[in-house]
Amino acid sequence: MNERDRASAADAGTRGHGDTGTGASRGPGSNAGLPASAAGVTWLLRCVECALEYPGLDLRYRCDCGGTLDVVHPLDALRGRLSTALFDGRLSAAGSRAPLDRSGVWRFRELVLPLAPEHVVTRLEGSTRLYDSPRLASWLGLDGVLLKHEGENPTGSFKDRGMTVGVSVARRLGMSRVACASTGNTSASMASYAAVARMEALVFIPEGKIAYGKLAQSLAYGALTVQIPGDFDAAMRLVERVCARRGIYLLNSVNPFRIEGQKAIAFELLQDLDWQVPDWIVLPGGNLGNSSAIYKGVAELHALGLIPRLPRMAVVQAEGASPLYEAWSTASDLVPFAHAETIATAIRIGNPVSWRKSLRGVLATSGVVEVVTDQEIVDAKARVDRAGIGAEPASCASLAGIRKLVAAGVIRADERVCAILTGNLLKDPDVVVGYHRGTLDGLTSTHANPPIQAWLEPGGEIRWE
Ligand code: F0G
Repeated sequence: MNERDRASAADAGTRGHGDTGTGASRGPGSNAGLPASAAGVTWLLRCVECALEYPGLDLRYRCDCGGTLDVVHPLDALRGRLSTALFDGRLSAAGSRAPLDRSGVWRFRELVLPLAPEHVVTRLEGSTRLYDSPRLASWLGLDGVLLKHEGENPTGSFKDRGMTVGVSVARRLGMSRVACASTGNTSASMASYAAVARMEALVFIPEGKIAYGKLAQSLAYGALTVQIPGDFDAAMRLVERVCARRGIYLLNSVNPFRIEGQKAIAFELLQDLDWQVPDWIVLPGGNLGNSSAIYKGVAELHALGLIPRLPRMAVVQAEGASPLYEAWSTASDLVPFAHAETIATAIRIGNPVSWRKSLRGVLATSGVVEVVTDQEIVDAKARVDRAGIGAEPASCASLAGIRKLVAAGVIRADERVCAILTGNLLKDPDVVVGYHRGTLDGLTSTHANPPIQAWLEPGGEIRWE
């Protein structure tokens, strides 16, 4: 099937659920003035559980069976038409200054989502730095380590990569309201992109359980911010219901288009490495959208012949919120944690939506899932911060995980390891200051650098100790 056929098949709903039409005419957003045509829609949606297919712009986040959905691109049609030189040309100094080329997501647009430029809502996300830190490498027991700092995105986390695509699809669908549940970064990102797109943003957050920097962003960007008395998992259940009932577009990573944007982390990382495949990509896991996305990205590059092999993936969870670790280490389906707990509030999630997609990536790459304690997370964070790079607690689970995996002999010292730092140091100042003051409950501040008091001597001399 060529691209045009696929588009019209999607239009006519001739694959999978043939009676569903474009989805633009029904579903929770059917009152939202959706475009009648699905022209240019080259992709389709496929259920991860039962493989049932739906038209590319069907307004749904799950299959009828309840499974999550993948965006499936016409890779056969793209093979041979895409090259690393095309993407490199857009990046090079002599390349275009057009926003779609400058964005570290839309630079890869043929593989992300071929939307018309007028639908794209971008803050020139991505183009984050890749740091080489010999200091951290020696602490980790590695010859070298590379850190892709996604905290350098416009709102300070990797979520911007998924959000630019999610909000652009919302615009494409004619939606005027968007919503998410969040541990803080998704909501900060969605609030920003919705404001840029002049959409209303509705955010559900677990009360008292998100870092201050993130709460501040949601308020500042003008999102209606609803604090709920439960945890993230409860907020997630709530937002799915609210969106379905009120015709609001859901922008959690259960939305398959979020994953399409986030997989550009993998594209850009490979581009940073001149398309040389690292041995490992290591990242923290919470709701498990990001690990799903990075796997999808490398798998597509591999399927297109743009990279010769797959890197191995390591997903690192906090001990008190590690249902994927349990599922992976017991080779069984995921059993949600009723009460997730960790100081890394970003990944305090007991019932991750994308666990099946994430596990698929771990297994397909001969990867691993690792678990780390809060003490290991805060100590790794102190090291990352002290190395002059800095990141929020959840991000540093990656480093704590690498250290354990090196010590266990799973990662060899001479392997090329890339860790994803998912969020900015400034997101969670309470943990930073609490750590250095030694006031974090139940945790030891092994590398504390507390502020000290100064005073004025009678002679006017200032002293401190
Ligand atoms: N790191 C940070 C800084 C995060 O904010 C998140 C997730 C993760 C890691 C885990 O990524 O969920 O794709 O496995 N934050 C979400 C939020 C849940 O609402 O901001 P994941």
